[in-house]
Amino acid sequence: MVERIGVIGAGLMGHGIAQVFAGAGARVRVFDPSPEALRSLRPRVESNLNVLGLPTDAVENIEPVSSVAAAAGGAELVVEAAPEDVGCKRAVFAELAEVAEVDAILATNTSVISIGEVAAGQAAVDRIVGTHWWNPPYLVPLVEVIEHPEVDPAVVERTLAILGAVGKTAIHVRRDIPGFVGNRLQHAMWREALALVDAGVCEPQEIDTVVRSGFGARLGAVGPIENADLVGLDLTEAIHAYLLPHLDSSTEPAAGLRERVGRGELGARSGRGYLDWEAGDADAVRDRMVVQLRGVEAARR
Ligand SMILES: NC(=O)c1ccc[n+]([C@@H]2O[C@H](COP(=O)([O-])OP(=O)(O)OC[C@H]3O[C@@H](n4cnc5c(N)ncnc54)[C@H](O)[C@@H]3O)[C@@H](O)[C@H]2O)c1
Repeated sequence: MVERIGVIGAGLMGHGIAQVFAGAGARVRVFDPSPEALRSLRPRVESNLNVLGLPTDAVENIEPVSSVAAAAGGAELVVEAAPEDVGCKRAVFAELAEVAEVDAILATNTSVISIGEVAAGQAAVDRIVGTHWWNPPYLVPLVEVIEHPEVDPAVVERTLAILGAVGKTAIHVRRDIPGFVGNRLQHAMWREALALVDAGVCEPQEIDTVVRSGFGARLGAVGPIENADLVGLDLTEAIHAYLLPHLDSSTEPAAGLRERVGRGELGARSGRGYLDWEAGDADAVRDRMVVQLRGVEAARR
C-alpha cells in the first residue's frame, strides 16, 4: 500500500482522486491555487461519502495545503489534476521535479494530451507517467496507466500496483497515443452518434435510448472483445465487411456540434445543447449516474 499521496488540483477530478486514496487509508495532501477550491475540498468529499452512505472518517485523511511543495513533501505518488493545458501541466511537473521526493512517482491525469508532451525535457522525465482516471473517480473503477518512451518501466509497474492496492482496475496502455484507449473508444462512438443526428436518422434523445436500452445495457457485463468472441468472429468479420464503409470517418467535429457551440448552446450549463435542460435536470442525471455506478461497484465486490 501507499502511505502518503500528493494531489495537485482540487477540482472535479482532484477531490475525487484524493477521496479514493484517503478511503484506502493513505494521508493525502492537496494543493490548489484557488482558496475556494481548498476551503470546499473536505465538505465536497464528505458530501460524496454521505450520498454513498459510507462513513466519513476518510475526510480526516485529507489535508488542503497552500503550495505544491507542501502537497508533494513525503509523498510516494503525486497526482496532477490541474486544468487540461499543456503549459500549465508542464509548469507543475517542473516544480514537482524540484520539490517532490527524489523517488516519488509523478502522475498526470490528462484526458487526452500525450504524456510525452507533458514529460519531454523535464528533470523528472523518467518518473512521469499518465494515470487517466474517470469521473467520478471514486465510482468508476478504471484508471489507464500510460507509459511514454522515456519513463522507467519500474515506475509503470509500481503505479499499476498502487492503483490496484487502493481498489482501482488499472490497465497498462503500452503506447503514448492521443486519447489512450478509453477516450478513443468513447469518441469513436460519439462521432457516429452525432453524425447520425446530423443525417436526420433519429432524434438526439433516441441515440441515448438506443445506447442505454440496447448494447449499453450489457456493456458493464460483457465488453466488445468478449462479445465478438461470443457471437463468433466470422459473423463479426461479415458485419464489418458490409458495415464499415458506411460508418462516419470524418476528422472534423460534426457540423451540428459546431453550429450549436456557435449559437452558445453548450448543453446543460446553458439550458440547451442537443437537448433542452431545465433547473434540476442535470442533478437528476448525475443522481441516476451515481445509482447506476454504485451497482457496478457492488457487483465488483
Ligand atoms: N472532468 C472529467 O471528467 C475528467 C476525466 C478525466 C480526466 N480529466 C482531466 O483531469 C484534469 C482536471 O480536470 P477537472 O475536471 O478536475 O478540472 P476542474 O476545472 O474541475 O479542476 C481543475 C483545478 O485545478 C486548479 N488549478 C488551476 N491552475 C492550477 C495550477 N497551476 N496548479 C494546480 N491546480 C490548478 C483549479 O483551481 C481547479 O480547482 C484535466 O487534465 C482534465 O482533462 C477530467
